[in-house]
Parts: sequence; structure tokens; C-alpha cells
Amino acid sequence: MGVMLTDTTLRDAHQSLIATRMRTRDMLPIVEELDKLGFFSLEVWGGATFDSCIRFLNEDPWERLRSIKAKAKNTKLQMLLRGQNLVGYRHYADDAVKEFVRLACKNGVDVFRIFDALNDIRNMELSIAEVKKNGGHAQGGISYTTSPVHTVEGFADMAKTLEEKGCDSICIKDMAGLISPKIATDLVTAIKAKVSIPISLHSHCSSGMAPMSYQAAAEAGISILDTAFTAFSWGTSQPPTESVAAAFKDTPYDTGLDLAKLFEIGEYFLGVRNKYKSLLQEETLRPSINVLLHQVPGGMISNLINQLKEQNAVHRLPEVLEELPKVRADLGYPPLVTPSSQVLGIQAVLNVLMGKRYKMVTQEVKNYLHGQYGQPPAPMNEEVRKEIIGDKDIITCRPADLLEPEMEKNKAEADKLGINKSDEDLMTYTLYPRVAVQFFNGELKEEVLAGEEEAPAK
Ligand code: CO
Repeated sequence: MGVMLTDTTLRDAHQSLIATRMRTRDMLPIVEELDKLGFFSLEVWGGATFDSCIRFLNEDPWERLRSIKAKAKNTKLQMLLRGQNLVGYRHYADDAVKEFVRLACKNGVDVFRIFDALNDIRNMELSIAEVKKNGGHAQGGISYTTSPVHTVEGFADMAKTLEEKGCDSICIKDMAGLISPKIATDLVTAIKAKVSIPISLHSHCSSGMAPMSYQAAAEAGISILDTAFTAFSWGTSQPPTESVAAAFKDTPYDTGLDLAKLFEIGEYFLGVRNKYKSLLQEETLRPSINVLLHQVPGGMISNLINQLKEQNAVHRLPEVLEELPKVRADLGYPPLVTPSSQVLGIQAVLNVLMGKRYKMVTQEVKNYLHGQYGQPPAPMNEEVRKEIIGDKDIITCRPADLLEPEMEKNKAEADKLGINKSDEDLMTYTLYPRVAVQFFNGELKEEVLAGEEEAPAK
């Protein structure tokens, strides 16, 4: 049977290494070649790409999806969907979730990797059901993390529930690259004992263990592994597509991918990397086992560094990375992945810069303490919670049950603003009301890369 690869170069890899800045025009020339190879899927959309497209690149993410789809006739396109948070940072009402999934399917997404930052399945149920309804492949993501309350058996139980909810496959989503070969063996074995659908492993090289863990996962019977072309691999990104394919050649895990073709495509991406080299940061390029302590995922490290740079406090990164696990314990050990990584990351920065913990608390942390993100894996620190928000308005239901339908209201607003030209535009407005207005009014400009006089004309 072999192992199949999902190539993440056009999504997670550039999100992890160059702050999600790869332009569509650097993707399109190679999509037909990628499409011919025989990947399980190409991850090209979702996560931070939607936001970054508009905000920094002045590109329409829907247009990107359609233009990639037009060149990828054989290979499934994959996106990363944050459950009820879609590609945003808050819970959207159910009608928005339904409409988003419908449009993503219509514009070309085949495989939806759906996860929730707290592993609260109630936040994933609706998107799973809607993907199935629209004929898509629903991949249930387990946000992998380590803590005193997380166990291999617990993750395997979650996989079982996701299968029962209708998922077509399971993804062990190791966004921070924490999985050791031993855990990969145990986890894949435990999940395989409970579910019959294929399992994929998504990891990052952040701690340096991912290639070894991939080998272990293959030996334990994994079906799919996530990799990225070498120019955008290693560091806080995925293991290299070319090397994993080469390592498995002529073994029971053979990916069936043509190494010579992989090398050719790899050369193309080296050229692309060169163009973006000013965005590469030393800290994200080399592995560090410190990630095992602070658990910050790839994309988040570069955000934290940028955030600290703005405050002229980049030298305090080690303190922030030390504070983060403490904030995490206070909040019930959530996995660190969007949006929880941002929510906790910003609070950890504040706790360090203010000189006193929780002297200043973000609205997001308050919302979290109220239960608005869902149920964390373990109880929160009640003392901290009481101190910050008191006892009132704690919710225990599925957070989206409290949200009124929003699409009618959004449509009325978008109509009034004269920016409701299509269902896709309305969805963009729903996701990012402020930036969307600037975008549709032509007020946003493509960021200029170091070494460029100005952004080339589209
Ligand atoms: Co990732």
C-alpha cells in the first residue's frame, strides 16, 4: 500500500517559515507539475493563508483557490479549517459555518482538515457534517499536545469519536513538532486499534524529531504523512517531501513519487525561497528542543518575535517562552494552536512586559475564561478566573449555541457598503469586516519585499 504524502508547501510551510507571504504568482507556475506526481493531497488553503492573502498581499483568497484548482485536475486540494472559527479567530454562527463550507467546496477544496484549538468536538461537529453534506472529505484533526492531563488513550478516544461523527480520516496534528518517535508509535497504534479510517500525521521539525517520528509512524501503519519541498521545509516547517520519499523508496512505505521529478520541483521552490529570503528568521530555521517546554507552534514563534520587536523587547523572548506554560496551566492546558496560541501568547507577553502576571488581561482571555472558546482539556485555575472575571456568565454549552444567525445582518451591511458583489465577497466580509472593506475599496497594497523597488504589477 505504501504511505501517501500531503504536500504543504503552498500552505503550512510558508506559513511556518515566511509568515504566510508566498504570492499566488509564485505558486501557479508549478501547480501542474505538483498535480502530476501522485500526492494524497496538496494543502493550499486555509489556516492563516486567507487572512494573509488579503491583509498583506492584496490578493483575493477565493481567486487563489480557483486558479490553483484550474491547474490541479488530478490531485485533491486540502485546506485547514479551524472548526467553528473557520479561518478567523472567533466563533462564527452556524449559518456562517454552513455558507463557508459550501463556498469552499464550490471553489475547489476537496479535503477539509478540521480541528478545534481546545479539542472540543462540539466546535467541530457542524463543519464535519457540512463537509459531508457538500460531498467533501472530512478529516478530523486531533490537536496534539503534552500536559499532565493528555494521554495516548485520550487522543485515541477522540479519534474514535471523530470517526463516529462521520470523519473520513483522522489527522494527528502535531503543530508544534512535539511528537517523539516513541509517542508516534504509541499514538498510531492506539488510534488504529480504535478506528478503521486512514490516519495522517502532521508534524513540524521544530524539535528536530519529526523525520524520525515519521519513520516510526510509517512502521506503525500510518497512511498519510505531511511534508513540504525542501526549500520550505525543516526548521519550524514540515520534513522535506524529497527526503521522506527517498527514505521510503523500495520499502513497504514507498510513496510511489518519482524522485527525479521531485528534485526538479524542488529546484523551482529554491528559486522561490530566494525571493523571500529576507523574511526567513534564524530562530525558525534551526530545531530547538526548547519547543518541548514551551510548545509554541511554528507560525506563532515568528509572530511572538515580531510582537516583541515592536516593543523593542525581543531580548525578552526567553522569559515569554517561560511564562507561556504557566499561562497554559492556568487556562486548563489547551493545545497551542490558532486561536488559543495567539490568545495565550499575547497574554504571556503582557505578563512579562507588565512586570506582574494578569495586571493587564486581554478581552480574548476574559472570553476564554467565560468558556466562550469551549471546554479546555482540564479545569482552569479558579483563583485566576475569579480574580479576572468573577463568577458570572460562565457558559458550559457549545459556544455557538449562543450565537444568533449572522449572515442576514452581514449581507445587509455589505449591501450598504456596496461590497457585496458575490457570495464569496460576503463571506470575506463576514470573516474580516474591517480589512475586507479596505480590500474591496482598493485601499490595501501588496507588501513590498526587501530587494524589490515596488511590488510587481499583477
Ligand atoms: Co502545521
